Amino acid sequence: MGEALPDSVPQHVAIIMDGNGRWAQARGLPRKAGHRAGAESVREAVDACLELGVSFLTLYAFSSENWNRPQKEIDALMKLLEQFLKSKGKEFSKKNVRLRTIGRTNLLPPSCREQLAKVINDTSGNTALTVILALSYGSREELTDATRRIALKVQAGELDPADIEKETIARHLDTAEFPDPDFLIRTSGEFRLSNFLLWQLSYAELFISPKNWPDFRKTDFREALEDYSRRQRRFGRV
Ligand code: IPE
Ligand code: IPE
Ligand code: MG
Repeated sequence: MGEALPDSVPQHVAIIMDGNGRWAQARGLPRKAGHRAGAESVREAVDACLELGVSFLTLYAFSSENWNRPQKEIDALMKLLEQFLKSKGKEFSKKNVRLRTIGRTNLLPPSCREQLAKVINDTSGNTALTVILALSYGSREELTDATRRIALKVQAGELDPADIEKETIARHLDTAEFPDPDFLIRTSGEFRLSNFLLWQLSYAELFISPKNWPDFRKTDFREALEDYSRRQRRFGRV
């Protein structure tokens, strides 16, 4: 019975930060103003994790499918990402936060990749919280890449197909070094996963907030975690 009870604080929270465009539209502002306002919600989510003792925070910032948006919006998002990274370097170091990424980050513009590499390197020894940015991330792409890497090992004679277990697959995903998310938050009231962590969310608790991401602040994050603490996770047991 004891092991079926939830830990009151999730070790790993994942967030689909959705609704920036609608937030801006409702105010007669360009979509990029919504993305800019969303950056403040990121800061509050990071602070809330530090205060509550969450160890991993994965943020869906740009999906594989988001490359299909108008080039103007992609450019604005990449510029904001670069600015965000420039400002977070110091802040993350001060707060003992480590930055990591998942996704096909090789597809990002060189200026973003440089900033990413710098912040990841500068914060690599930090221990209070790991913030994982999902950038150019799609779960099907990730599983495809993992399958290719496994196939190459089989082809090279390094791996026997009979030895492929679910752990083998998990080890070849971008998330290999992180625990699975315990709790998934999606904002803006959409009830879908949009190609996010399909494998890793198998047993996550789900929370949908009607608020758009720029309106989702620390109190909302705390309320979501209170909701989580009342859940009973069963993992298929009774
Ligand atoms: C989420 O907000 C941010 C990204 C996907 C980059 P959206 O840009 O999807 O905002 P809506 O969903 O159109 O309101
Ligand atoms: C999911 O939001 C991706 C991110 C939050 C980065 P989208 O707005 O792209 O998802 P859909 O199109 O509503 O499914
Ligand atoms: Mg959206």
